[in-house]
Amino acid sequence: MNQLQLSSDFNYLNNRSTDRGYVVAKNGAVSVVNSDAMDLLTSSDRSWISDPDYGPFLERAIEARWLVDGPFPRAATVRTIERRIHLRRVQYEVNLFCNLECAHCYCLASPTASQGLSTEFAKDLIRQAAELGTLHFDITGGEPMLRKDIFELVEEIVGQGMIPSIFTNATTITAEKAQRLKALGLAAVQTSLDARSPELHDEFRGSKGAFERAVRGIRELKAAGIPVSVTTCLNKRNAHELPEIVRFLREDLEVPYRLDRVINAGRGLEHDSPIALTNDEFYRLLRSLLKERPDAVTKKVCDSVNLAATEVIEPGCGVGAWYMFIKHDGRAAICPTMTEAESAAFVAADLRSMSLAEAWESHPTFNLFRGVQCENTSVCPTGKACRGGCRSNAYLIEGRVDAPDELHCNLQKNGGDDYVPFIAEYERRRVVGELPNRPNVPRFGAARRLRVIG
Ligand SMILES: C[S@@+](CC[C@H](N)C(=O)[O-])C[C@H]1O[C@@H](n2cnc3c(N)ncnc32)[C@H](O)[C@@H]1O
Ligand code: SF4
Ligand code: SF4
Repeated sequence: MNQLQLSSDFNYLNNRSTDRGYVVAKNGAVSVVNSDAMDLLTSSDRSWISDPDYGPFLERAIEARWLVDGPFPRAATVRTIERRIHLRRVQYEVNLFCNLECAHCYCLASPTASQGLSTEFAKDLIRQAAELGTLHFDITGGEPMLRKDIFELVEEIVGQGMIPSIFTNATTITAEKAQRLKALGLAAVQTSLDARSPELHDEFRGSKGAFERAVRGIRELKAAGIPVSVTTCLNKRNAHELPEIVRFLREDLEVPYRLDRVINAGRGLEHDSPIALTNDEFYRLLRSLLKERPDAVTKKVCDSVNLAATEVIEPGCGVGAWYMFIKHDGRAAICPTMTEAESAAFVAADLRSMSLAEAWESHPTFNLFRGVQCENTSVCPTGKACRGGCRSNAYLIEGRVDAPDELHCNLQKNGGDDYVPFIAEYERRRVVGELPNRPNVPRFGAARRLRVIG
């Protein structure tokens, strides 16, 4: 038993300021442990292993394969930080350059757009993120696989003890590239398919053959053993193909998938008639997939005011809590679609002239939006499941960063076929005192282009 040592398949991050430690597995899984547990795991004094008081913890550590029988060619990585505000995920848009030119692209990527900043800038950013205790470092774009230094960047992220993922359109992935990424330790790929019929996908993505190339790329990634998930951005043009898209992703490609919708941003705003679905249209579209939900609670839109919980429910994506988006030109934002392009309120932090730590901990925009959340989460019966929905959706439609995301209200609480105007209902309850007054949070002018819910 005394031969037990930390598995070299994991990284350990101890954050002394928050009494939280993280065990980060190579496959991208993260377990949260408290600092006591972390201290035991990482201590060079192993006498606790034979102490019966620690028996249950030891069993857990062995079962989770945190502790395994040695010897290992290399040691596990242990990092210690002291950060009260922990930046856990960074997403870096390494370029805007792209071989496609999609009809909805929020960042306006194209074959003539920016190639991004230098390799040195990117590597320095990666090192700074590791110093802040970042766990996940995602590379997105534009099309990141078109950067010549993409393998170097993945290697740097792994070398710094973080979990790398790539967001790619997968059209340029070959067997050789997939195997190389796997060998470097790439934990996951997120890619996009927006139709079942190749013609429609190609038209939407602005390139003939994009569908076949993406499907080939996905198969190569899977063959190399890299977990791939597919996002489908539903919109007015592909909505009719939904059942076929789902069947194809489930049965032919056998990949996990996420049905998202086009957000009204970037090129999505440039069409004569909007391609984005309204909340109402999106809800009705997904309705057939949601039929089997006995737990939907349309009538119960809030819990008693007295239940106003003190528990903090952070947004699932981490916006305002533990997430940062870095644009191709080095400017940092709270979210890919809450940037200066959406509103002057989201002033960017320029990482070419300030450190990542300074931007994250002190920049006015990160300070202002720290803790941003749907104003109802603490009294909402599905607040924990919904985690406040999407702040960007809420902002772009309602013009308030703390507005409920009415689409998610419907996805969580509506058991019927018709879309429910929950926001009007919350307002009514607020007037009669069934919902607490709004906390005093900053409010901003209307978003660049508001859409009215039908
Ligand atoms: C900007 S792309 C970058 C990675 C890669 N080029 C790709 O397309 O997968 C990241 C993801 O954002 C999605 N996306 C782009 N514009 C969007 C919009 N207006 N609303 C919602 N998702 C969008 C894309 O479909 C893709 O899944
Ligand atoms: S969504 Fe992705 S593939 Fe499409 S133009 Fe934007 S960056 Fe390129
Ligand atoms: S977005 Fe809607 S469902 Fe989600 S927490 Fe807010 S009120 Fe509840």
